[in-house]
Amino acid sequence: MKQSELDFINTLRQSSHYIEQHRGKTFVIYIPGEFSRSENALIELSQDIGLMHNLGIKVVLAMGASPQLDEAFADAGLSSSFHKKLRITATEHLSVFQQTIGLLRSQLEAVFSRANRQQGTELTMVSGNWVIAQPKGVVDGIDFQHTGKLRKIRYQAISDCLSAGQVTLLTPIAYTLTGEVFNLNTLEQACEVASAIKADKLMVYASNQQLTGLPKQLSVPQVKQIMLRPVNSEQQVMLEQVTNANSHVKRIHLINQNNPNALLLELFSRDGSGTLIFSDRYHQLRAATIEDVGGILSMIEPLEQSGILVKRSRERLELEIDNFIVIERDQLIIGCAALYPVNSDSQELACLAVHPDYQGQELGSELLKAIEASANQQGVKQLFLLTTHTHHWFIEHGFTLAEVEVLPEEKQSLYNFQRQSKVLVKNL
Ligand SMILES: CC(C)(COP(=O)(O)OP(=O)(O)OC[C@H]1O[C@@H](n2cnc3c(N)ncnc32)[C@H](O)[C@@H]1OP(=O)(O)O)[C@@H](O)C(=O)NCCC(=O)NCCS
Repeated sequence: MKQSELDFINTLRQSSHYIEQHRGKTFVIYIPGEFSRSENALIELSQDIGLMHNLGIKVVLAMGASPQLDEAFADAGLSSSFHKKLRITATEHLSVFQQTIGLLRSQLEAVFSRANRQQGTELTMVSGNWVIAQPKGVVDGIDFQHTGKLRKIRYQAISDCLSAGQVTLLTPIAYTLTGEVFNLNTLEQACEVASAIKADKLMVYASNQQLTGLPKQLSVPQVKQIMLRPVNSEQQVMLEQVTNANSHVKRIHLINQNNPNALLLELFSRDGSGTLIFSDRYHQLRAATIEDVGGILSMIEPLEQSGILVKRSRERLELEIDNFIVIERDQLIIGCAALYPVNSDSQELACLAVHPDYQGQELGSELLKAIEASANQQGVKQLFLLTTHTHHWFIEHGFTLAEVEVLPEEKQSLYNFQRQSKVLVKNL
């Protein structure tokens, strides 16, 4: 079998778990206006949403349009003004605003119709007056005129459309109960709708600038820490908006708008793509400190006694604590892993363990991802480990079995032939 065929089969097999996990779930996806500027990106997105629909996922799509509106207003000789990064929509802007959003919606419907034909689906897209607006009013002495804020969501109507198998579209156009037209930030709408319909995931396409320096996973308290010292104001605004949704939406994924594969990678691959903000896990993954030595020891001692892990004395652990990361929950250490520097190309993963009461919740995978991310950051090319009992788990996580000879020389000389550990490697 050709390597490309093998890769395809393996990837499909790996994704099976995620296909099952996502079936019947509701995801809200936000695309900024910059994303829709590329027709190819829209075509690929429509195909990806078609695939998600075929796999039983319900989708709400929220479409931003800032750059399109900037251009349309400029073409019409209307100047755009902003206050605190929010557009002021004057009465004379309204008809260009409605035309621009109408055109964008029509372009989106066109690419979706094309994807339908290619994928053999009957997926329809609907938009409507689900979101009720109210004026943003006068802020800091500035009248926002037809820029509105969200007043109410007709979430039952949205849920009904989703249950009928339709993609529900949110645009910046919203109406007041008196029938006035308002311009409403669509990321804000996406967050509010995701909360109101208790979506399983909110997926937000974001720019490189907004994603700068964000790690693969963040708990809500960690996001709040970052918000105290944001890398730039774009990141600050986005994090403030998305964390508003987090009390009802357990998982918020920030994905790169420049990567056309980001959506499917995030949903169906083990390594994912972008940054996950989660509020459904009440634990914290962090670097270990000397205070954690006791907690780590009491968790790993039974594993050492049964020969699963190599024995470490308290003194050795104290000396090596900087190599460790831990997962803490309610002041209890429930997971740990260590990364040992060996040489500039290769590092050793060791002492990966999850407390027996907490196994099977993907905490082991989370620790492994954090170790891999840290090795990656240091420019390491290969991760290796020795294990007597757990090689299958590592193979399922992308490692391959290898001979002792592939170990870095300095490690080969220390290999304990009595223990007969299996050697596993993963190229990063
Ligand atoms: C290996 C370990 C860290 C996984 O932690 P975890 O949080 O349970 O991992 P996940 O939730 O990501 O994965 C759980 C899956 O791995 C499987 N698994 C657990 N141990 C396994 C093993 N030794 N071999 C193969 N699969 C294993 C579970 O059956 C479960 O499968 P399922 O999803 O089909 O039910 C944990 O089982 C552990 O602490 N083991 C003892 C210590 C150890 O062996 N460490 C490795 C040496 S460095």
